[in-house]
Amino acid sequence: MAADGIVELTQVSPDFVRDPYPVYAALRAEAPVHHVRVPDGRELWLVVGHEMCRRAFTDPRLSRDWQNHGGIGQILNPDLPAVGHMLTTDPPDHTRLRRLVAGSFTPRRIAALGPRVQQITDELLDAMLENHERRADLIASFAFPLPMTVICELLGVPELDRHTFRGWSNAVVAPTSAEEEARAYEEMPAYLARLIGTKRESPGDDLLSAMIQEVDDGGDRLTGDELIGMCVLLLIAGHETTVNLIGNGMRALFAHPDQLARLRADFGLLEGAVEEMLRYDGPVETCTQRLALEDVDLDGVTVPAGSTVLIAMADADRDQERFEDPHRFDIGRDARGHIAFGHGLHYCLGAPLARLEGRIAIRTLLERCPDIAADADESSLRWLTGMLMRGVKELPVRW
Ligand code: HEM
Repeated sequence: MAADGIVELTQVSPDFVRDPYPVYAALRAEAPVHHVRVPDGRELWLVVGHEMCRRAFTDPRLSRDWQNHGGIGQILNPDLPAVGHMLTTDPPDHTRLRRLVAGSFTPRRIAALGPRVQQITDELLDAMLENHERRADLIASFAFPLPMTVICELLGVPELDRHTFRGWSNAVVAPTSAEEEARAYEEMPAYLARLIGTKRESPGDDLLSAMIQEVDDGGDRLTGDELIGMCVLLLIAGHETTVNLIGNGMRALFAHPDQLARLRADFGLLEGAVEEMLRYDGPVETCTQRLALEDVDLDGVTVPAGSTVLIAMADADRDQERFEDPHRFDIGRDARGHIAFGHGLHYCLGAPLARLEGRIAIRTLLERCPDIAADADESSLRWLTGMLMRGVKELPVRW
């Protein structure tokens, strides 16, 4: 801890990015809320522990609406072109925006996509398995293009320039510099505005065309800017996370050959295995930043008004008060109750889709590659920066 009482996360462990779990557990042993300095130098308040994380998620004094509350100065440059969407609003705007698209993400609507998700999965694996050296980067050849193709089709933008978009998306969720992040925030909305313009000329039977119609009907349910924000959110949230469900899930299986063998022997364990992957090493390490609208007392710790607050789901899901032997990866356990998809108002809209994609991806990979194995030492893997996303940049595999 520094003299000013701020916990320096990278001083607690220089290995914080690769393995933050012991750091969070040590903090949790002391208190559920801490004033910390995160690896990029910012100061904020970190909530740990399952119970306190759930409480923080539903505390209305912790807002997501930084635009209407003067900006989270420390976190986002207020001069950045604002990208407003359901995840950066509180009710009533949040309620209105979420309602507009919720019908496209219900479990029933998503289940109907199963055959198409399977087809995309098979085609990607056909291409990957053509490699004569029997080696590939699983992220680039499979974990990224699968959810990206699905969300582009669902939205109605199959022609999206995925390579360029991936660059912007990475820069927003795992920035390596403030300049890179700012550039992505400027270029991405401009590109999407052009894409929307083209779609308006030739609408189809898809979600984007329906939303364009909403805007053109007068905009009292959705404005033109909000439409761009919605596309940004759905495209980013719809793929970044699932990439890392597949990547982190396969890494966990490689690191636990007994669990890998168990799953191969009985795919009846698949649904539980995917829940355990989400609990054990979920794609979202901490929530998107909250703003304390007033002094907020959390279990005797006062988080001052105007502070930035992060909720560490990665720690919540490794809390021994909630899960027995929490650091053990056990695909047979009951992992329900994890908060890898968040909690409360902003609970992940895409959870049914992510589960569908995760189950199909993992099962098909294991079925078609009986000998798939890691092709690099864990210690050589490059990690995504920042505390939002948890995952590796490349995952070399052989089969
Ligand atoms: C394994 C994959 C996924 C994980 C772990 C995940 C996790 C999360 C989490 C933790 C949140 C809440 C963030 C917060 O409160 O700060 C969230 C919100 C959201 N997610 Fe996901 N997500 C996944 C996949 C998807 C997919 C496939 C979509 C597809 C569209 C999606 C769309 C959204 C949206 C729209 C929100 C904002 C909801 C709101 O503000 O009401 N997510 N997700």
